[in-house]
Amino acid sequence: MAIHDDIPPPYSMVGTHGVFPRASHDERARFNFLANLNKHVAGTLGPGNKLAWEKRAQPKFVAEQGRAPADRFEVRRAMNADPYHRFWSALKRNNMEMRQQNGRSIVLRQLDDLDERARLASGNGDGLELDPAITIPRYQTAVDTHCMPGSYFGEERPGDVSAGANYDCGIFVTTGGGMGALSDGGGQAIAKWAHAARPGWQPRRILDIGVTVGHSAVPMAQAFPDAEVIAIDTAAPVLRYGHARARSLGADNIRFVQANGEDLSRWADGHFDWVQTTMFLHETSGQALPRIIAEAARVLAPGGLMLHLEQPQYDDTMPLFEQFMRDWDAFNNNEPFWSAMHAYDMHDVLAAAGLPRDSQFEAKVRAVVDETIFPPSVEGDAEDFGRAAVWHAYGAWKPA
Ligand SMILES: C[S@@+](CC[C@H](N)C(=O)[O-])C[C@H]1O[C@@H](n2cnc3c(N)ncnc32)[C@H](O)[C@@H]1O
Repeated sequence: MAIHDDIPPPYSMVGTHGVFPRASHDERARFNFLANLNKHVAGTLGPGNKLAWEKRAQPKFVAEQGRAPADRFEVRRAMNADPYHRFWSALKRNNMEMRQQNGRSIVLRQLDDLDERARLASGNGDGLELDPAITIPRYQTAVDTHCMPGSYFGEERPGDVSAGANYDCGIFVTTGGGMGALSDGGGQAIAKWAHAARPGWQPRRILDIGVTVGHSAVPMAQAFPDAEVIAIDTAAPVLRYGHARARSLGADNIRFVQANGEDLSRWADGHFDWVQTTMFLHETSGQALPRIIAEAARVLAPGGLMLHLEQPQYDDTMPLFEQFMRDWDAFNNNEPFWSAMHAYDMHDVLAAAGLPRDSQFEAKVRAVVDETIFPPSVEGDAEDFGRAAVWHAYGAWKPA
């Protein structure tokens, strides 16, 4: 297999920073296939589930039970017996497993080189603070989150960047390319949203909890170059990689700190002007989430912004079938807290942390995508796998 790092986009793994894994022609072809299969499974085959529900599984349930399903779990049990859904679900799961295998095989064969490039990009290590004494929370060790072997914190050998490199290159498949060349469309969108929400606002200190490799934190740091961004995570390999990635992208105003969002005691009350989480809370737990929000509210300065990007919560207005479909990751993709978390009333959670309802808001945040790299699909876009991912934001401006 020859190495062809110069293959241009579109539909390619586009590594545009100094520690991105180098892929051969065949590896790229596999990732491109998997990204497009992912879009096909969601966008073209996904609607077949609704048909199977309406024409087959739901009438069967009603005939047997003499009533409509009461919740998303009853819909799931009925659909788990349906042949179309079983086929679709197996294909989706298999696609994720193939994405992990491909990412891991790309990364592991060049791990020496990746570790060396990360070491060089990290320079003297200024801005990377690891804590070998940290305890990885049980909700992280209990499963390989979204089927990543070793999850975020696993190492092939001590001190490596394998988990970060696999996460960074494979997210192209997971998002169907919807987050742009650097997979940072979410972070760009957050920064754009903040500029529009409060023009001229200059936060001095920003805390990003659950940073992983910095897909969101780096564009935030670049959009607010005078701010100091503290990016925390419990997992060392993603922090090592994230630090090197940020430095190779020229983002020098971020510090990557190994710390648990449940305990921010090293920072004083009101230390940050902005506390951010992005697709993070659903990977915690029922006990951890309120602790994290309470700590985040404590370290937030009066007048500061708390913002959490997630998928929409399940409420009474969301049909049970949609709740069931959105629950797929909880039961098939090692995201055990997903289902429970999306049933929370996030307004209550924020209010319990001292952010009253009249200080809260909800917003839609659409990923910013480079259209020259990801042109519109000729087949049209599905809800979650269109060119641009869309998140639901829950936030509050802390009363002054
Ligand atoms: C889905 S990823 C977040 C993605 C990231 N925010 C982004 O925008 O690209 C979840 C991350 O949270 C980290 N994590 C999980 N529990 C944590 C905790 N209690 N404190 C800090 N980080 C945690 C995991 O190690 C993982 O890197």
